[in-house]
Amino acid sequence: MAIGIGLIGMGVVGGGVARILNERADFFKNVKGLDLDIRKVAVRDLSKPRAIDLPTDRFTTDPMDVINDPSVQIVIEVMGGIDPAHDLILSALKAGKDVVTANKALLAEQGDDLFEMAAQKQVGLGFEASICGGIPIVQTLSQGLVGNNIESLYGILNGTTNYILTRMTEAGANFDPMLKEAQDKGFAEADPTMDIDGTDAAQKLALLCRLAFRAKLSPSNIIKEGISHITALDIDFARELGYTIKLLGIAKAVGDRIEARVHPAMVPHGELLADIRNEFNAVEIVGSAVDSQVFYGKGAGEMPTASAVVADLIGLAEKRQAGVPSIGSALAPLPDAKLIPLDEVNTGCYCRFTVNDRPGVLAQIATLFSGVGISIETVIQHGRSESGTVPLIMITHDATEAAMRTAISRINDLSFVTEDAQVIRILHP
Ligand SMILES: NC(=O)c1ccc[n+]([C@@H]2O[C@H](COP(=O)([O-])OP(=O)(O)OC[C@H]3O[C@@H](n4cnc5c(N)ncnc54)[C@H](OP(=O)(O)O)[C@@H]3O)[C@@H](O)[C@H]2O)c1
Repeated sequence: MAIGIGLIGMGVVGGGVARILNERADFFKNVKGLDLDIRKVAVRDLSKPRAIDLPTDRFTTDPMDVINDPSVQIVIEVMGGIDPAHDLILSALKAGKDVVTANKALLAEQGDDLFEMAAQKQVGLGFEASICGGIPIVQTLSQGLVGNNIESLYGILNGTTNYILTRMTEAGANFDPMLKEAQDKGFAEADPTMDIDGTDAAQKLALLCRLAFRAKLSPSNIIKEGISHITALDIDFARELGYTIKLLGIAKAVGDRIEARVHPAMVPHGELLADIRNEFNAVEIVGSAVDSQVFYGKGAGEMPTASAVVADLIGLAEKRQAGVPSIGSALAPLPDAKLIPLDEVNTGCYCRFTVNDRPGVLAQIATLFSGVGISIETVIQHGRSESGTVPLIMITHDATEAAMRTAISRINDLSFVTEDAQVIRILHP
């Protein structure tokens, strides 16, 4: 018997899903034994051309028509936004329907009751497409690596910022023109704030932490810093020192606590993450049994994202067909994560000071670092500028954020320091 599919949204991702279901219908039927039928589709504008031809009576402008249609068993939410998507998904789950969504913002910010409802009703809530698009990272964490304690994960989780940082690195350019280029090429939205300030990556990291560490946390509790303050000068010095600057999402289990942070990081050349270019995403997972594995691919776009939606859909349809109840998303109930506070985070740092070039500068800065127990690994100082100020670069050994903040604030107050210091944490995987 055919399984009824309902789509809420048939834009970029929904169109891709419809295309895959259309093109691979024979494969799903003959190989998977699944006859999938798109029975209802909600859109805003009925007059727009759509990715596939369907009878007009299958379209509606009311998403509740999709949920209330008794012939729809699996609902795919690809409309985006928090309201009304949250209430629509909740209604679908309450009605005993499986749901697949690509909506990371919704799940990360307001997903708790959705995960709980899925568990209570023993229906599926698939969200593979919401993290790193086409990379099957949810499946990897929940199935492929189920025999491991996840020790840490490091991810390039946002394609827009990775594109901008790659172009800054390769063109030797500053942030603003490369943001404009990313917008012109469709890799950044007209309002790129959520990408640039790290919010999008923090939302994905919060969902990854649920899967990896079985604890829930709000994206707002993740330590977060964006990329707009990174300059071409920092990228040049990073290269000279053997690093590439990437926006990373980092999560680690430390005893019964979790360290979770999103910020630009100096990634040593030779690490796979240093070589992830342009709009691509990658996640490195360190598991107790497998050690380190890296997953790489397209993190967004019509077909990669649709691929992930369809993967969830097929998994849920197979269970339905076999009469096996889903055990919810297996992500509820979860305890709140015990997060390591920022002050305790321990990293080495790249520090760029802008100073008047005069004798004793280096010694005074080094003294302030050593006063809070921070030792210096490398120092670089080149030439003299016409303005009389020069960049002074120091790489520090590992130290707590609290110690680093104290030192930097004292250094910024020195009379020969002309600008606030630039500080970028170093990745020590
Ligand atoms: N695009 C990507 O690369 C990507 C990657 C990962 C995750 N996602 C996520 O996937 C979701 C969908 O993104 P998208 O890029 O496909 O968005 P989109 O192209 O804007 O499509 C949204 C669809 O929802 C429909 N819609 C919006 N509001 C509606 C309403 N109130 N009632 C009925 N239909 C409504 C729109 O109808 P009309 O067509 O009539 O306007 C459209 O078909 C979002 O949660 C997004 O974050 C997207």
